[in-house]
Amino acid sequence: MSIIKSTTYSVYIGDKSFDALNNFLKKKTYSSYFLICDEHTFQYCLPNLLFNCPILNEAEIIELESGEQHKHLETCIQVWGALTDSGADKKSLIINLGGGVITDLGGFVASTFKRGIDFINIPTTLLSMVDASVGGKTGVDFEGIKNHIGTTYEPKGVYVNPVFLETLSERHIRNGYAEIIKIALIADPAFWNDIKQSSTTPHFYSEELIIHAIELKNAIVKKDLYENDLRKSLNFGHSVGHALESSLLKLNKDILHGEAIAFGMIIESIIAYEFKRITKKELNEICNYINSIYPKIKLNNEVKKWMFEYIFHDKKNDNGSLNFALPDSIGYYKLQAGIKDEQIKAAIARY
Ligand SMILES: NC(=O)c1ccc[n+]([C@@H]2O[C@H](COP(=O)([O-])OP(=O)(O)OC[C@H]3O[C@@H](n4cnc5c(N)ncnc54)[C@H](O)[C@@H]3O)[C@@H](O)[C@H]2O)c1
Repeated sequence: MSIIKSTTYSVYIGDKSFDALNNFLKKKTYSSYFLICDEHTFQYCLPNLLFNCPILNEAEIIELESGEQHKHLETCIQVWGALTDSGADKKSLIINLGGGVITDLGGFVASTFKRGIDFINIPTTLLSMVDASVGGKTGVDFEGIKNHIGTTYEPKGVYVNPVFLETLSERHIRNGYAEIIKIALIADPAFWNDIKQSSTTPHFYSEELIIHAIELKNAIVKKDLYENDLRKSLNFGHSVGHALESSLLKLNKDILHGEAIAFGMIIESIIAYEFKRITKKELNEICNYINSIYPKIKLNNEVKKWMFEYIFHDKKNDNGSLNFALPDSIGYYKLQAGIKDEQIKAAIARY
């Protein structure tokens, strides 16, 4: 088992992470356990977890409907209500068993219930293993804007067991892989060189890959938990990607977070090239690799119109200036302020 130490907690990765979880549960004296899952993690992941961590048979199960469209305040109200009705108190523990939607929403609920109770994450998608479950960002979407309401509130532990990925679809594996590409492009040129050889590999994960991606994210978060500077780098691909995701969800079109981020990384790489941050060769390398993995996104005028609305809501903007986290040659990062909407339009036209 690998253990990565974060600011106030550790991330346990591997088959033995169940043992680490059992140790944690034995040591801490919680008054009650509340396990949040969705219908898929209830079916595919919960039985395995309960078999390996029998103490959690005591947990009250709160099953939510899956999907980004349920990551909103009404679902939180449902969970706060269930906690209240079942007598949860300051010493209760929330256990999030799921993908990024469950870990984001469950973490937010924990951070606000009685001004904050403990929670742990047991991520079950590749995306939540390598990104969403680590770093303490919690939240929900609001009026269509991604993660508009949220907190920075750290879990007491993250238990990553790749066994859960066995039931995840290939599309959702690709979805999570987008965040691995992202971290390589802004934080580790050698990692990028490794992964770009892997476009023909049918399965886009291995335990080593997961460990390294978490190490890279964790190193950034430890330096800048509250995103004053360096942590902004993790938003590469997200200014445009979140805007695409929100727009398509608004129009009831099917899109996954990672697919939107893959698109966002292409558009933002074109902008990075325009700012002479990366060379033409690097731009082609990034675009060819991403295009070899993800389907092309079809954009009509309505989607583009909404995308611009959402881009202006991005949390990195200040004083009316559009700020994007861009690579500064592959594997490094610098924030770029003052991006003009014509530049974004031109990059989308080149897509
Ligand atoms: N907090 C952060 O730092 C951070 C970082 C990146 C992304 N996010 C957020 O993460 C969310 C996306 O996460 P996601 O892609 O994991 O989505 P998700 O939670 O919706 O999970 C994807 C789908 O896989 C199903 N599923 C989960 N585990 C499974 C398993 N083991 N077997 C079979 N099916 C399973 C879920 O039920 C769901 O239908 C977005 O809301 C995004 O904003 C947060």
